[in-house]
Amino acid sequence: MYVLLVVSLIPLSVASSTTTVKYYEKLTRQRISEAEFYNMPTNNNEFKVGIQSNTTHYYGSYDFVIVGAGSAGSVLATRLSEIDSYNVLLLEAGGEEDDFSQIPSMSFYLIFSDMNWGYFSTPQTNCCLGMKNHSCTVARGKALGGSSAINAMMYVRGNRHDFDKWVELGNSGWSYEEVLPYFIKSENSQVDGDPGYHGKGGFWDVAYSSPVSPLLSNFFNGSLQMNQPIVDYNGRKQTGSGRIQFTIKHGKRQSTGKAFLENARQRNNLKVRSKVLATKVVIDHTKTANQVQFVTNEKKFFVKAKKEIILSAGAINSPQLLMLSGVGPQSHLKSMKIDVIEDLPVGMNLKEHPMFPGLIYNTNYTLSGLSTEEFVKGFLKGLGPYTKTAGTDGVGFIHTGGNAVPTIEYLFAPPAGNISKILTKSFNFNDDLTNKMLNKIDPQRSILIYLVLLHPKSRGRITLKSNDPLDFPNVDLNMFEEEEDIDTFIEGIEFIRDLFATDAFRKIDARRVEIPVCKELRNKYREYWGCVIRQMTNTIYHPHGTTAMGPDKKSSVVDGSLKVHGIKKLRVVDAGVFPTTLSGHLNAPTVMVAEKIADTIKREYKFS
Ligand SMILES: Cc1cc2nc3c(=O)[nH]c(=O)nc-3n(C[C@H](O)[C@H](O)[C@H](O)COP(=O)(O)OP(=O)(O)OC[C@H]3O[C@@H](n4cnc5c(N)ncnc54)[C@H](O)[C@@H]3O)c2cc1C
Ligand SMILES: *[C@@H]1O[C@H](CO)[C@@H](O)[C@H](O)[C@H]1NC(C)=O
Ligand SMILES: *[C@@H]1O[C@H](CO)[C@@H](O)[C@H](O)[C@H]1NC(C)=O
Ligand SMILES: *[C@@H]1O[C@H](CO)[C@@H](O)[C@H](O)[C@H]1NC(C)=O
Ligand SMILES: *[C@@H]1O[C@H](CO)[C@@H](O)[C@H](O)[C@H]1NC(C)=O
Ligand SMILES: *[C@@H]1O[C@H](CO)[C@@H](O)[C@H](O)[C@H]1NC(C)=O
Repeated sequence: MYVLLVVSLIPLSVASSTTTVKYYEKLTRQRISEAEFYNMPTNNNEFKVGIQSNTTHYYGSYDFVIVGAGSAGSVLATRLSEIDSYNVLLLEAGGEEDDFSQIPSMSFYLIFSDMNWGYFSTPQTNCCLGMKNHSCTVARGKALGGSSAINAMMYVRGNRHDFDKWVELGNSGWSYEEVLPYFIKSENSQVDGDPGYHGKGGFWDVAYSSPVSPLLSNFFNGSLQMNQPIVDYNGRKQTGSGRIQFTIKHGKRQSTGKAFLENARQRNNLKVRSKVLATKVVIDHTKTANQVQFVTNEKKFFVKAKKEIILSAGAINSPQLLMLSGVGPQSHLKSMKIDVIEDLPVGMNLKEHPMFPGLIYNTNYTLSGLSTEEFVKGFLKGLGPYTKTAGTDGVGFIHTGGNAVPTIEYLFAPPAGNISKILTKSFNFNDDLTNKMLNKIDPQRSILIYLVLLHPKSRGRITLKSNDPLDFPNVDLNMFEEEEDIDTFIEGIEFIRDLFATDAFRKIDARRVEIPVCKELRNKYREYWGCVIRQMTNTIYHPHGTTAMGPDKKSSVVDGSLKVHGIKKLRVVDAGVFPTTLSGHLNAPTVMVAEKIADTIKREYKFS
């Protein structure tokens, strides 16, 4: 067994002078209250004047034009601009990260800020039933760093069999053995992981948040009693329980904007243009992508690409941009009055990771109330509850139904302060469900378990509302269309029930706190849980697969080197290209994909 509980003392990165403490105290207070009153945008009207402008300005010519400075785009821009002779333009709709967004525990508040696009799902019939309008929140980062600038920073690569499956589906080069070096390349690991699986000296810090809650020890002991070994889940064996590895550095968020782009931006051959909306890829009669049209809040531009245009706008916006440019399902584009250039299944097969937050346990352990001042002081030393998301310390993976890959992930969040209000708000719970949940959570005592379905069978879809780039796309999550997904979740719930019945949890008097929903079904086990799951499940904000890679134009959008089928000089490089669901989170695999394709591109163009 690995001894993962050693608390490593992280060196002081910032002098915690009184003024700095006061500054962060004020900043958090102010931004928390701003989040409470934030009005989500419902369209891209901030760019309306630019769109309506009658003059189109020429923005010049670059070797590579990359749309989106998110997890993939930041890495690609960084790696391509390592070649002096390449001229790279990176276009990003959002702006800079700030001091508030660097505080890991504040990540849920960023959903209610201009660093999030502001999407919600279309009203659902099988899921999101406890949400306002039956709509789930669909958070998407809009900043340098993209979704990695607002995400929960968990570093979870996925399972070796996931990537081997990509090869089975006809995408050579993506086996686990071939992608592992790219995971390692990015990483500057501070965790005591399995030898041979982690990188040192890469751009991206991966570390534990310290100290952990004393309850993590109960979690590990209980896991062992459930035959779940304590593992480095990014190492030799994923199945088991482990301490969460985060993309943080000295307790601060390490988005790809910070880790990769911040240094690369100094290069003369990389231009980063923020606060611009790309509205169209111009594809000529030879089916070659030549130009990108984009707008600022007042002007309209076009830019030429000499070598390639690369869409890294994410699994929702890259499909939107492709469809606006004439690449997508023929009948849908026709109904939107868009000329069809290439008929491809863009936006179809939306995969997600449903997340059920409905398991709460109280014990006789009480977190002693810490003040904001103490939290800030800890944070400035790189320590304490402000350095992790929602108090999460532990994670684990189990298999159900004899699958080779884990099907259920469980996140273990001991009490870590007063976060329940922003949690329920972020899930878009209706007032009734919000009250029911808030009444049951004791901020100083309640352990929250988040269950994640890693390989759901149900599929959603991204479509256009109209041919106007100012309109948000439709996101139809369609979770739990397949009943099997409910059954898998119930197996996860049963595992957690048994985990909390082990001696390790008995000895602290662990008891489930039932949220009073679906009470009328209390006597019908399967129906009861089905109802609770459909009420309370949101996603973990992992859309993927909407521009999947594969050899076949009928079922995929890009080929194994991520070139759009049938179109020259156009690639998609982001979480949309994953051809399967993954047994992990998406940030690390997205960065891996960008690292690998950067090498592919450098080889193709022979550094010239
Ligand atoms: C709240 C939240 C929590 C998450 N938690 C985790 C976690 O803990 N661990 C994990 O591994 N993953 C997590 N994820 C998922 C992970 O962050 C994403 O899957 C990953 O960042 C996706 O990378 P990407 O490059 O595909 O897209 P993104 O990082 O979203 O990048 C797309 C970029 O393109 C820009 N863009 C889009 N359209 C346009 C346009 N038309 N013009 C110009 N720019 C445009 C966007 O503003 C954005 O910056 C989370 C995501 C969210 C939202
Ligand atoms: C653009 O042209 C249209 C039609 O000629 C005109 O109605 C509109 O006012 C013009 N817009 C601007 C911003 O000049
Ligand atoms: C529900 O949807 C309607 C129509 O789309 C919208 O006007 C209303 O604001 C929505 N309500 C909430 C609470 O989101
Ligand atoms: C977990 O198990 C170890 C080894 O048996 C024991 O020393 C430790 O006290 C246990 N921790 C808790 C919280 O029960
Ligand atoms: C929790 O935060 C809310 C505001 O979000 C506040 O009203 C409440 O007093 C806080 N509770 C505790 C125990 O700190
Ligand atoms: C928690 O409960 C257990 C078992 O009932 C008991 O032995 C222990 O002393 C309690 N701890 C606290 C802090 O109350």
